[in-house]
Amino acid sequence: MSYLMESTKEGQRLILQERANPSSVRLLQAGLCRGQRVADIGCGSGAVIPTMLDIVGNDGSVMGVDMSQERVDEARKLVRGARNAVVQLGALPATGLPDAAFDFTWSQFVFEYLREPDVALRELIRVTRPGGRVAVADIDGHGLAFWPRPAAIEEGIEPFMSALSATGFDFYIGRKLFTLFRKAGLQDVSVHLSSLYISAGADSRLVADYTQRFEVLAPVAIKTFGDERRYRQFADAYLALLADPDALKYAVVLTVVGTRQR
Ligand SMILES: C[S@@+](CC[C@H](N)C(=O)[O-])C[C@H]1O[C@@H](n2cnc3c(N)ncnc32)[C@H](O)[C@@H]1O
Repeated sequence: MSYLMESTKEGQRLILQERANPSSVRLLQAGLCRGQRVADIGCGSGAVIPTMLDIVGNDGSVMGVDMSQERVDEARKLVRGARNAVVQLGALPATGLPDAAFDFTWSQFVFEYLREPDVALRELIRVTRPGGRVAVADIDGHGLAFWPRPAAIEEGIEPFMSALSATGFDFYIGRKLFTLFRKAGLQDVSVHLSSLYISAGADSRLVADYTQRFEVLAPVAIKTFGDERRYRQFADAYLALLADPDALKYAVVLTVVGTRQR
């Protein structure tokens, strides 16, 4: 099993993403509250764990799990000193966590990479206590709604998306989660919309983020562009748009929440 965005700089990218657009809004939409025992599945470098700890307080706890040893090491470093946070290695769909151990099980920006999200969801349900909540937050769309739309981007979006889709990446996982939750037998399923970012004008953080994304994805994406030059033209046009003070860019996240049957 491999992670499409894997790179030595991925942990830091996740921290900067969280800093620019905190997950607190999504955690609160999902009903996270004081005293809860939380599992953060696919926790990356632990960027969201400090926010979770703030919400659950001293009586609650957070268990972060990720399939990458590097991310686990980074997350452990980040939460060092917090007596109610633990991070361990584990991978969906078999995390190795005990049955029914958590009040709130969370997975953000992970399902987009999974070929069998239904099987992964069953694992999240298994580790959640009856009556506890399962929440999955993920993208819906290619990550950039924007205006104006330069021709180089229009032409490049299709090969870019098909290259990533061929690896199993699902740009539209967000809209599929509600049905997955219902079919998995979760109750009181609700859906919440939030922004991954809204960038009205030039955004140097997004330029840095997407520069890294295009570098890491190059070996995969170049195949559908036919040659490297065409891919670079697309990536450069995309980065120019992110730096354009007159352009609007935004991306949405759907957070889906359900209760495990008692
Ligand atoms: C985009 S990052 C999101 C990290 C974190 N949830 C956040 O919001 O900052 C996706 C993470 O999921 C992890 N991951 C991908 N597939 C996984 C799997 N099958 N099981 C566990 N972790 C996985 C990756 O190693 C990566 O750290």
